[in-house]
Amino acid sequence: MSLILEKKVLAPSIYEFVLEAPDVARKAEAGQFVVLRINEKGERIPLTIADYDRRAGTITIVFQEVGKTTKQLGQLKKGDTITNFIGPLGKPSPVMEKGTVVCIGGGMGIAPIYPIAAALKNKGNRVVSIIGARNRELLIWEERMRKVSDELHITTDDGSYGRQGFVSDELRDLMDKVSKIDLVFAIGPVVMMRAVCEVTRPCKLKTLVSLNPIMVDATGMCGCCRVSVGEETKFACVDGPDFDGHKVNFEELIARQRIYLKEEKIAMERCSCSENERVA
Ligand code: FAD
Ligand code: FES
Ligand code: MG
Repeated sequence: MSLILEKKVLAPSIYEFVLEAPDVARKAEAGQFVVLRINEKGERIPLTIADYDRRAGTITIVFQEVGKTTKQLGQLKKGDTITNFIGPLGKPSPVMEKGTVVCIGGGMGIAPIYPIAAALKNKGNRVVSIIGARNRELLIWEERMRKVSDELHITTDDGSYGRQGFVSDELRDLMDKVSKIDLVFAIGPVVMMRAVCEVTRPCKLKTLVSLNPIMVDATGMCGCCRVSVGEETKFACVDGPDFDGHKVNFEELIARQRIYLKEEKIAMERCSCSENERVA
């Protein structure tokens, strides 16, 4: 059980929760995630540990309402509890001194890239960040990213803030301007991570991506989160979620993410919760 200590609305349908979770906070590292169930009958969903405070015993999650469970989660309030909660899960992101690292967060990927950028900066790297969203209203955590970055670049698809275009367009320009980039770390929608990898592939610039396949048990037992990386089959929950983006089979990942679309639509339709209704 975990108490919601703070709730913020960051953008339409995007929420930040600070949760009481001393055991998770004590062990959490950048790149790890939790799996939670909001009630006894609820499904398990993975969410990244976007920040943690060991002393206060809290972790921060940021999520977007995309379906039944995230919608129900979004209806919880400060003072409510989350029934089931396990973590930290997954391998921590590799945080070593590399030199210049470009950290890219697209849409909801901005929250998960934040702890990685912060850890890389702490380690003495030069962190150049690119964050992007569809429009200004949906751009989250700009100030947090600015604090952990030596340079921050912003893009919006519609040009309402920062450069008009995609984070991959900005990366392409940066690669022409910055003399040496040692590593690129990209988190966001799969199509965005794939686009970033296509920009870095020709010059073999090492690119890590954080994969988000459907997860069920998140302990390596069910096989649901199977991804193909090079010639190997990996389970993102225990072998990842970070992988070498140049080796990831993104087409397979996209197809597997859509496997339960019909059921997800039905679950959403059956979900009795309305905007104003509280979850039991
Ligand atoms: P549904 O309508 O059930 O599903 C919508 C889409 O979400 C599906 O088509 C599918 O692609 C995906 N999805 C559904 N169930 C799962 C599941 N059990 N596991 C993974 N994906 C699923 N989202 C955030 O908003 N913030 C985060 O910090 C975040 N971190 C993640 C970290 C990891 C390691 C992974 C694997 C996913 C993460 N996600 C995050 C995605 C989040 O888990 C899904 O958005 C959520 O499970 C959707 O549930 P739903 O019932 O609301 O939507
Ligand atoms: Fe079951 Fe990864 S979620 S093996
Ligand atoms: Mg669901």
